[in-house]
Amino acid sequence: MSSQRTPFVGGNWKMNTNAQEGADLIDGLGSLMSGVGDAVEVAVYPPFPYLVGIGGRLSNGIMLGSQDLWKDDNGAFTGEVSAAMLKDCGVHTVLTGHSERRHVIGESDELVNQKTIKGLAAGMTVVLCIGEKIEEREAGQTDAVNERQIRAGLSGVSKDQLSKMVLAYEPVWAIGTGKTATPDDAQDAHAKIRALIAGMYDQAAADSIRILYGGSMKPGNAAELMAMEDIDGGLIGGASLKAEDFFAIIQAAQNS
Ligand code: 13P
Repeated sequence: MSSQRTPFVGGNWKMNTNAQEGADLIDGLGSLMSGVGDAVEVAVYPPFPYLVGIGGRLSNGIMLGSQDLWKDDNGAFTGEVSAAMLKDCGVHTVLTGHSERRHVIGESDELVNQKTIKGLAAGMTVVLCIGEKIEEREAGQTDAVNERQIRAGLSGVSKDQLSKMVLAYEPVWAIGTGKTATPDDAQDAHAKIRALIAGMYDQAAADSIRILYGGSMKPGNAAELMAMEDIDGGLIGGASLKAEDFFAIIQAAQNS
């Protein structure tokens, strides 16, 4: 990655852990993190019911994140959670557009955009996730899909708001499969995403935004991925559930 950007590593716990496992995980990570300082920004995204409990155990600069939020402020939206509620729980950062929300739950580009706008308005660091499915990749549509999801996801987002965002390129075929994009393929996608941001905003905005890679990132491949110029950290699923593995990825980011 470029030295002008501080790496960001997020642990997306998805629908995993119970209260005790989550507590053990964050305590273990916290003690490993002593000494990392502010060289890497680190966030964890636990399930909703554990946000407050995990938030109370955070140490050494680890930020609290939410895996989702709803697009309205309050009202008859059974089962949904607003940005203000998340802020009340101590949440600093939120994921939007995760591939499981898009492709398992069925969220549209428009809903992802509405959630992104709502998270930004609440002052949270929004991590907008994008990425192509295997059939789209095989049809040569990787860059077109990324461009469509970015243009739609960032609709109405000002340059100032963009400066509080992070992008995460997560090819759907690499998520939870053990298959990782090669460093060259990931770099190619990231460079095109950065060029797109330069065209939509300007070069300074493109140079400063962090673009994370996600999809089977683990201790064994994190360093070679994060050595690439345009890969500024990772969004980690499975490997974020073991404190030692997640910390090894944080160290790879620190050394990149
Ligand atoms: P895995 O690291 O388990 O492939 O998940 C990646 C991901 O979806 C992070 O948001």
